This record gives sequence, C-alpha cells and structure tokens, in this order.
Amino acid sequence: MTRSSAPGTAFLLGEHAVVYGEPALLFAVGRRATVDVDTKETVGDDLPDSAYVREAVGRAREYTGEDTPLSVEVESEIPIGAGLGSSAAVSAATVHAASRELGAQMEREKVAEEAHAVELDVQGAASPADTYTTTMGGYTVVSDEKKRSLEVPDEREGFVVGWDGGSAPTGEMVDGVSRLVEENPVAADIVGSIGDLTRRGVERAEAGDTDAVGGLMDMNQGLLDALGVSSSSLSRMVWAARDAGGSAKLTGAGGAGCVVAYPANEEVLGAVEQVAEEAFVVGVSEGVRTE
Ligand code: PMV
Repeated sequence: MTRSSAPGTAFLLGEHAVVYGEPALLFAVGRRATVDVDTKETVGDDLPDSAYVREAVGRAREYTGEDTPLSVEVESEIPIGAGLGSSAAVSAATVHAASRELGAQMEREKVAEEAHAVELDVQGAASPADTYTTTMGGYTVVSDEKKRSLEVPDEREGFVVGWDGGSAPTGEMVDGVSRLVEENPVAADIVGSIGDLTRRGVERAEAGDTDAVGGLMDMNQGLLDALGVSSSSLSRMVWAARDAGGSAKLTGAGGAGCVVAYPANEEVLGAVEQVAEEAFVVGVSEGVRTE
C-alpha cells in the first residue's frame, strides 16, 4: 500500500488574472488530502467516484506502463470547490501514490505536470497555479510561462481562512470573467492591473514586507469584486477581518467559498469566526509527500 498526501492551496494574489498569463502568488495550506493506493489481487479497479482520481490513475498507468488493478481511497480535510485547491491536492496525491504503487519514483516536477494535465482533462481549462503549489509546497509564483518557489522571510504566524460553507464551480466563474473581458475593455485593464499588483506583491513578499503584501491583498479584493467574482458572504468575511485591523481577500474562483486574511491574530480570527461558517488558522505547508 502507498499513502501520499498533498496540501490545499490559497491565492494571496492573482487568481483569475493567472488564466490570462499574469503571475499569481500562492501558498500551500496546512490542510491536506490523503490518498491510499493498494494493489488488488482480484480483477478490476476499485476507485472512488471522482473524475480527478480516475484520470490521475490513468496517467500513473501511462507513465509506468503497468496495468495492475488498484484500489484507491481518498480522505480530505480541504473543503471542496471552495477556493482551497481541493481537486489539485487530490490529483497530485493520487498521481504521486499511484505511480509509486506501480513501481516508479515519479519526481516532483513530473507530478506537478501530470496533476495539471488531470485538471485540464477534467475541467477543460485550468491554470497550473494550484497543481504546482500543492506539489511543491511553501510559497510559489506561477504563470503559464514560469513557475518557481519563493523564499518569504517570517512565516511564523500563518493566515486566517474563513469559509462561508458554500462552493461555486470554478469553470462557471472563469467563464463569467471571460465574457466580461470580451464585452468590456475596462475588464481587460483590471486583469492587467491584478498582474501589476501581483508582480509588486512578489517583490514585497521576498523582501519580508508583509504589511505591503496585506495592502495589495486588499486592493486585489477590490479588483476581484469589480470582475464580479465576490459575493455578499465573501465580502462579509473580508470586512470582518478588515474591521479587526487585518487585510483580506477571497481565494480561488470566488462566487462562494473561502477568504484568506492576515495577520493570523486573535482579533482577526475572532472577527471572521463571527460571520463565517468555519474559520481556522493555517500555516504554510510542505508539498506532496509519502506518508
Ligand atoms: O477555486 P479554485 O481552487 O479552483 O481556483 C481557481 C483559480 C482560478 O484562477 C480562478 C482558475 C485557475 O485555473 O487558476
């Protein structure tokens, strides 16, 4: 039996704009999806009803050239479809575990590439942001052209995550932005501005200037709102964090789901808890690994 786990992911800056080639700044959150893969003695696979798992197993088979029947079980601490990259974590952990169970030590870069291919196959469109970050862990900067890990001084406190209890389909949110960009050149300018503030945020994050990154997160939330991907429940959590002296924005596709807030102190956590279905502090986590 092989057990692998991979973390959820959150966008500090740059979701949606990353679909248009701009960079995004993410981190791997300390909540994980765990996947058990076992070789079966009898004929036929025993897989959960998940297109991501099925596709990931198929890719591990193609890579290894092994056709042995497998059973797969998934357990996840990551809310589904809520902006924390649950499907990317499940895809990466399944590719990682299945390839190892079939006898190949697939290296990290390859796991990231295959997990991205899984998301593309299942969703039709997806940037490599979530899949690269869940595989590598830590902080990352991801664009279509360039992907790298980022050294950020001072990771002590972590972040507050607030969840409104809801979820929204990523594809529909991405399509909504794409219609807006086609109809209105101002929306295309907003996408470009998100790219500009993300480039600045990467530079400030590397310099350890967390206040500046917080200010850019607030600005990014305003631009995401302008693109129509926020909601009343997301805005309530954002404003609760701000009223408590923090910075906050939605993470991921939006529509419903999670916000990420900073700093992770009692005031910000307590304020977000008041209006969220669930709120918790997350640290910055390691990428995909064998358990
Ligand atoms: O909500 P999630 O975790 O599926 O993130 C979506 C992020 C987008 O930038 C909106 C789409 C993408 O593929 O990067």
